[in-house]
Amino acid sequence: MIPLIILLAFLLAGCEKLESVFIEEDLLQRPQAKRCMDCHADIYEEWKESRHYHAWTSEQFKIESENYSKLKCLPCHAPHQVDPDKKPVLRAEFKADGVSCVACHFKEETKSMHGPLKVWSPPHPSKKDLAYVRSNFCAGCHQETFKEWRRSGTIKTCQSCHMPDLGKKDLIQKFPYYLFHLSKPRSSHRFPSLKAKPEDLRFELKDNVLYITNYRIPHNLPTADQGDPRLYIIARVYYRNGKVRTVRKLLSAQSKQVLAFREPFPLKLPKGEIEEVRVRVLRKLAWKKEKDLIGEFRIPSPSHARGGQSTQGGGPQ
Ligand code: HEC
Ligand code: HEC
Ligand code: HEC
Ligand code: HEC
Ligand code: HEC
Repeated sequence: MIPLIILLAFLLAGCEKLESVFIEEDLLQRPQAKRCMDCHADIYEEWKESRHYHAWTSEQFKIESENYSKLKCLPCHAPHQVDPDKKPVLRAEFKADGVSCVACHFKEETKSMHGPLKVWSPPHPSKKDLAYVRSNFCAGCHQETFKEWRRSGTIKTCQSCHMPDLGKKDLIQKFPYYLFHLSKPRSSHRFPSLKAKPEDLRFELKDNVLYITNYRIPHNLPTADQGDPRLYIIARVYYRNGKVRTVRKLLSAQSKQVLAFREPFPLKLPKGEIEEVRVRVLRKLAWKKEKDLIGEFRIPSPSHARGGQSTQGGGPQ
């Protein structure tokens, strides 16, 4: 049975006229995202967990766009077509799909699905398009983050971190179609927000100033165009004389106080001879109520460390 299907597939692959028999016309007429689920079930499930799916229906967006009456807010949250570097225009249909499959993949110019792969896709024409693996695909909407990213000079793309590689998997789950296709490289359509790791941050204490550096994330921390994600820094300062003081700092894109990539952020600490600073760093994403802990850090005073009173090491005094 299966070898017969494969033989049939080879015959059909060579025959363009027959191929057009398999076209499902409505796929080229900008259907709802759930239509893509008929075949791309796994990708659809991932995307439904992403913020792109929530972009239009988000409660916060509804409030801040004054119930969708602020027209300038709408295009990026329900785009018609995504092109690299271009701010999109507002879509007419199915706005509740937010940043949808069709918006990101269907091109009016070629009436086909563009994507990173070369595929044989009888139900709809497809076109390999390397724009999909470059950061400027995201730039028309994530405008500020893209500028920060470009300044960082990194070669890692947005996709390499926010659409992580899932290995080779089937693109389609529909029977019997998947029998005709080999598995292909897949990237996560959950578009995870990710979270900084403790080792992404570095600290240095000098003259009662604590310098905090975002060492490894190639855009601001936090980063945003419109949302209001936050970073909370809580430093407990232990002085030689036994006193303890707490310094709190709130960083946000809107206040323009952020940890830019590899630019030390100075946090001034109250006067006195410092023994140690213990820092907790938390973040809050724009769309979430809870904060998440990024890490807890202990930074000894450099003069203190030189003084040899450190509890570690225990060398001769
Ligand atoms: C058409 C505009 C548009 C394009 C193109 C776009 N995004 Fe988004 N993205 C949004 C919007 C709008 C949101 C916020 C949705 C919400 O939370 O309401 C968002 C949210 C996100 C988030 C979650 C951020 C958070 O606060 O948790 C990530 C991560 C993300 N996008 C990554 C990407 C990547 C990577 C690309 C390129 C492959 C991309 N986006 C392309 C509009 C876009
Ligand atoms: C140029 C594209 C663009 C435009 C225009 C735009 N947004 Fe967004 N919006 C984004 C992107 C991208 C995100 C995801 C993270 C970020 O950069 O803030 C986002 C995230 C958000 C969020 C946080 C996520 C959430 O659902 O809570 C809110 C709220 C929001 N936008 C409201 C607005 C409002 C209000 C306007 C109009 C004043 C607007 N946006 C216009 C691209 C845009
Ligand atoms: C009737 C089944 C079917 C439906 C429905 C369907 N597709 Fe596909 N699609 C395919 C097949 C088959 C392939 C090729 C699979 C392979 O090569 O493994 C494909 C491949 C793709 C690719 C990869 C293109 C590339 O060059 O990288 C994209 C993008 C895509 N489809 C988008 C969509 C979108 C968006 C929808 C909803 C509007 C959709 N598809 C609905 C069958 C379908
Ligand atoms: C924000 C834009 C965006 C949205 C929304 C989106 N995609 Fe994609 N898609 C991409 C990008 C970018 C890639 C290439 C990722 C890479 O190769 O690094 C991709 C890759 C693909 C591929 C090739 C296989 C893979 O996993 O890389 C298929 C098939 C596909 N998308 C289908 C869909 C379907 C179906 C939906 C809706 C359920 C969807 N996409 C929603 C941007 C998007
Ligand atoms: C080297 C990996 C990496 C690359 C490349 C990268 N990011 Fe991020 N990004 C992260 C991490 C880690 C976080 C989580 C930060 C945190 O703890 O909140 C993040 C967070 C975000 C957020 C959520 C807001 C926030 O401040 O937490 C958005 C939106 C975002 N990135 C968009 C992008 C876009 C757009 C690009 C490309 C221009 C990109 N990122 C490139 C790692 C990366």
